[in-house]
This record gives sequence, C-alpha cells and structure tokens, in this order.
Amino acid sequence: MAESGAEERARAVLEPDVFDYYAGGAGDQTTRAANVAAWDRIVLRPRVLRDVAAVDTRTTLLGTGVATPIGLAPTAFHGLADPEGEAATAAAARDGGTLLTLSTRSSRPVEDVATALGPAPWWFQVYVLRDRGRTRDLVERATAAGARALVLTGDTPFLGPRRTYAPAAVRPEEPAGQEAPDITFDDIAWLREVSGGLPIVVKGVLRADDARTCAASGAAAVWVSNHGGRQLDGAVATVDALPEVAGTGVETYVDGGVRRGVDVLRGLALGARAVFIGRPVLWALAAGGAEGVRGLLSGLNADLELSMALAGAPAISDVTPDLVWTPPAGGIR
Ligand SMILES: Cc1cc2nc3c(=O)[nH]c(=O)nc-3n(C[C@H](O)[C@H](O)[C@H](O)COP(=O)(O)O)c2cc1C
Repeated sequence: MAESGAEERARAVLEPDVFDYYAGGAGDQTTRAANVAAWDRIVLRPRVLRDVAAVDTRTTLLGTGVATPIGLAPTAFHGLADPEGEAATAAAARDGGTLLTLSTRSSRPVEDVATALGPAPWWFQVYVLRDRGRTRDLVERATAAGARALVLTGDTPFLGPRRTYAPAAVRPEEPAGQEAPDITFDDIAWLREVSGGLPIVVKGVLRADDARTCAASGAAAVWVSNHGGRQLDGAVATVDALPEVAGTGVETYVDGGVRRGVDVLRGLALGARAVFIGRPVLWALAAGGAEGVRGLLSGLNADLELSMALAGAPAISDVTPDLVWTPPAGGIR
C-alpha cells in the first residue's frame, strides 16, 4: 500500500518495531487494506447553486458541541511517538475543537491528559480486563477526571494475530492476554453503573443485529470499526458495514481508513454522525509532536469544508444520503 508523506516521515523517525506496531494489521492485512480502498467505491452526487460561501462543520455528539465531526479514535501508547505522549495529542485536540477518545492503554495517566485538555470534551475507551477490579478503578478515575462518555471496545476478546503485539519498550508493563474474553452485552449496564451513568458507546460493531442489541442493552451509540484491521482479518471494510448499522437508527460513528476530507463526507452521507481517525494521528505525532497533530486536524477539517462546499452541503445537516450515487436498477447503459 502506498504510504502518505506523514507515514513516511514517521517511519523515518520511529524505531522499526514501534512503526510496525502502529502500522500493522492482523493476519495478511486484507481488512486493513480494504478499509482504505473501500472509501473510493462510494461515488458522490454533488449539488449545484447552493450558496456555499460559509461552510460550517460544527455538530453535536451525545449532546456535546464539537467544532468538527472528525474525532480521534483511541490508539495505545502515544509515548512511543512523542515524549509528551497523549498530553501532546490532547493539546492539539483541544485547539482543534476535536473530540479525543483516550485509550485504556494510554502512556500517560488519565489525570494528566484531562489537565492538558482543560474544558475540552473527551471520551474514555474501555477494555474490559480479566481483572474487573482494575477495570473498575480505571473507569472511576476516568469518570472523576471528567470523561463525558465511555467507549466499550467490543471486538477484542483476544488480540488479533499481529506481527508486533507491543514494542519492546512497553512489553514488560503489558503482559499479553489481559482482555476479558467473556464480555457480553451485560457489560454495557455494568459500565453505566460503575461510571455513575455515563453514556456508553460500543466500538467494533459491524452488524445491524448487534447495533440493536447494544441499544436495547443501554448503549447510547455504536461505533462501526474493525480496529483498523487489527482483529479479524477478512472482516468487512467499515464503510461497507456502515449503511446496515446506521440504518438501525442507533446513533452511529465510523473509523477505518479515513484519510481525506472527502472520506469524512462519504461517512456522514452514509449515516455516521462522526468519523474517527487512528493511524494518521500517530504519524503526525511522531513526525511533528503536538504541532504535527494540530496541522493534521486543521488540514483535514479544511479538506472536509472544501468537500462539503463542492458537494453543495454548507452545513452538516445538509450531508444527507442523497449525496451518494447508486447505479440505476438494470445496470449502466
Ligand atoms: C497503534 C494502534 C493502537 C490502537 N489501540 C487501540 C486501543 O487501545 N483501543 C481501541 O479501542 N482501539 C485501538 N485501535 C483501533 C483504533 O481505535 C481505530 O479503530 C483504528 O485505528 C481506525 O483505523 P485507521 O487507523 O485506519 O484510522 C488502535 C489502532 C492502532 C493503529
């Protein structure tokens, strides 16, 4: 797969095992590649003559106002990319009005990241661990530090088969196999209780039936993801799963292979309320620290604004399913 400029710069500065850990997918990396390629199959139907002099990307996620529907997906161990780790990422997210999702596997304590964010909203990603007491402690700390929602990762009962599970620098702290393989939909209610009632988002949903069961079990939203192709290799590309999940009417987000503003536009048109990015943030952080991430976020949002303008959609509410072209029944003549 061709690398972006930022990815090439990150490769040049990162230890090879760290680069591998960040970049890699599971198995033959089929799903990792499919995530990126699938966006290009979504063909758009732009509108004309719609006054796009002012384009506004603001929206709300679980009732919280954000400057952009582009959010930061949870990714582990930012300290491998920058000495400030997640505090650098947080400062950039705060300045961009971008929602940060902090990983359970943060290099920095959750309290430090909350301080770097100030009043900016953020969510905390939860791996339910075999040690439920440790999970409860983490959730209680995140709640006390001001997380606005919990993102329960549902696709990791075991780690997928990857070439690098954790780089040498973190391996001693991170014994393999801590994830609880027996998590169920009942853990949604458990997390709500432990957090004193925070909204729960379930991440890793790829099917409408699962989205409905999540909602019936108390989830506020679902997040279409295959973990950046790091879990079940051969799983559907996220953009292909998105219409079925969003079609349930449950609030839906998506990540996986989003690299350009037009991909964000496609995701929103297919029914996502927010679109999250993973690896591009790590590349920007490695190559340029907080400033690098600031540049990534402002550049991507400017790219989204231009895509919205050219599609004839000056506000997020104008990004509707009719922007997606579908082949005429009976085929193309
Ligand atoms: C290095 C790396 C670490 C990740 N760590 C986590 C994690 O701790 N928790 C989680 O729910 N997802 C994790 N993910 C998955 C991301 O949240 C997200 O689903 C994925 O990266 C999106 O795809 P993209 O990288 O193509 O944008 C990780 C992904 C990568 C690449």
